[in-house]
Amino acid sequence: MKSIQQVHSKAYSNIALVKYWGKTGRQYPLNPSLSLPIGQCFSSCTIDFKLDSQSPGLQSFQFEEKEHLEFKNRIKIYLDSVQDVFPLIKTTEMHIKTSNNFPHSAGIASSASAFAALALALVKIENFAQDKPQDHDTERSSLLARLASGSACRSVGHNDFAIWGESKWNSNTSNNYARFYDFDNSVKKQYGGALLDTVLVVDSSTKKVSSSEGHALMNTHPYKEARIEQAHENIRVLYAALTSGDLGVAGEIIENEALSLHAMMMTSYPSFTLLKPASLLLIEKIKTYREENNRHLYFTLDAGPNLHLIYPACEKEKIESFIRSDLAQDTESILWAQEPKNE
Ligand code: PMV
Repeated sequence: MKSIQQVHSKAYSNIALVKYWGKTGRQYPLNPSLSLPIGQCFSSCTIDFKLDSQSPGLQSFQFEEKEHLEFKNRIKIYLDSVQDVFPLIKTTEMHIKTSNNFPHSAGIASSASAFAALALALVKIENFAQDKPQDHDTERSSLLARLASGSACRSVGHNDFAIWGESKWNSNTSNNYARFYDFDNSVKKQYGGALLDTVLVVDSSTKKVSSSEGHALMNTHPYKEARIEQAHENIRVLYAALTSGDLGVAGEIIENEALSLHAMMMTSYPSFTLLKPASLLLIEKIKTYREENNRHLYFTLDAGPNLHLIYPACEKEKIESFIRSDLAQDTESILWAQEPKNE
């Protein structure tokens, strides 16, 4: 009889600098996206499993050491939906435990890191079953993560930048899984530190419109084709800027993408607005600070009102002091930047 075994995994959340917005078929993106890992936000996953079990499938689930029916159902639906790609689920008993190191209520999407950690653990089980070494099989885990949540496929690569989605200018990209890049090397060479992300939480309440609803609205969006073109072009320019370490150019693209994402939301039918007055106030303060101080500080946004401040680690002290003195009063909470750990 097979015994119970255990696998562990960990995945960092990510923030898209070029946004994935709109999907088609089995979770394929309408346009390519490029992301930065968020070093202070990660999910961990432990799976106790038994191959060839009499009781296959998800047997128990705990989130932060407590049962969580809603998440359990979501994971069960996901595991059932990937039986054709991950057939082991039909014969393997699983007891899954997950946790996040960041508050669940911080308004930060945890699905990317949570599903990436789950996918990494599933691939470890597969490697165990096939007697393969526990290598970091990023393509396979990225593909499995993508089927759960598109942005999750960019979170399986330890702490690298990711590009997901076929891009016109780079044949080495795929709609099936993300590819990973170490742009930090060039940024470090130019600026003496990696790119960081401090999250200004403006409003942590659940958003009115889910990402899935937003993606669906892109199918009939009047600007759909122009948006797809824009994303291809922005990836081309941002890739070149990150490769050469030109943060001025990178920052322009990063902010253009954030505002374009929200412009798509505001101009869809029906339209919706996720930004709050405080988001706009903070954007204005950031722009003024940048102009007056000539520093590399840029903002991006996810599908929500919270701001992600992007800056090189060498500016950390100055920018953190600006955040404390000028921005903190307009936020609910702050998730301070940290470099992802190389584990
Ligand atoms: O992964 P999803 O389906 O939750 O969609 C994520 C969409 C954005 O966060 C708005 C952009 C992105 O590329 O992550």
